Amino acid sequence: MIDRWGRERIEFIADPVDFFDVLEQADWHRELQMTSLHMASLRDGDEALDIGCGAGWLGLYLAHRSDITYLADKSPRMVERARYNAQTCKIDNVRCLVADVFDLPFVDNKFTAIFCVNLLFTLPEPEKAITEMMRVLKPGGRLILINPSQKMNAWTAMQYCHDQGITRLQRDTFVSLGAAAARSNPMMIRALENPQVQDAEIRQHFMLSGLINFVRIVKFDPEAVE
Ligand SMILES: C[S@@+](CC[C@H](N)C(=O)[O-])C[C@H]1O[C@@H](n2cnc3c(N)ncnc32)[C@H](O)[C@@H]1O
Repeated sequence: MIDRWGRERIEFIADPVDFFDVLEQADWHRELQMTSLHMASLRDGDEALDIGCGAGWLGLYLAHRSDITYLADKSPRMVERARYNAQTCKIDNVRCLVADVFDLPFVDNKFTAIFCVNLLFTLPEPEKAITEMMRVLKPGGRLILINPSQKMNAWTAMQYCHDQGITRLQRDTFVSLGAAAARSNPMMIRALENPQVQDAEIRQHFMLSGLINFVRIVKFDPEAVE
């Protein structure tokens, strides 16, 4: 956008709901969404949950592959935006609700897939949130956790964007994630790269040049064992 003096105007989004709405539509976030979808192996009949859903874009993407997807967030304004985005995209197999990852309003063993993207690293006791998500995950179900890695900070994020040709608002959203990662507890970011979960198979990968930590946890299913 050009201002009345002919200069390019600085784009700035003050409202956090608007900010996450833009961030979740950035190409780098789409890459995380696509990988999550493939790693969760969703099938018809599955029920999925995206907790800490923000503006809901990952969940809307998941809704194409699952019977029903729950989009949940602690912030009522985020949930309202996720609902608006679903309606605008004419996606009707999602349920949007206010919920806390530490106290999920669901029965045990409900979901075949649960996604928690860029939330755990902001929380004081992420291991308690993981225990709660494992409670509502079905045996054999997949829990996908995405967080910044130990390498992520505003400088490494900026360098990544420079190398990848990511500019303007898309760059700003990635750099802000880097800055948020640098503000959080480094021991916790490290622990999230190697979460300790009982009765589960855990696989860990790095994405986006090692700046993002991707963990897939499959809950042990006693009936699948011969
Ligand atoms: C950094 S944003 C990430 C949003 C989105 N998942 C993404 O990938 O961009 C964290 C989100 O988690 C929500 N949140 C924070 N604490 C939460 C909690 N205890 N339970 C559920 N959601 C929470 C916030 O309202 C916010 O929408």
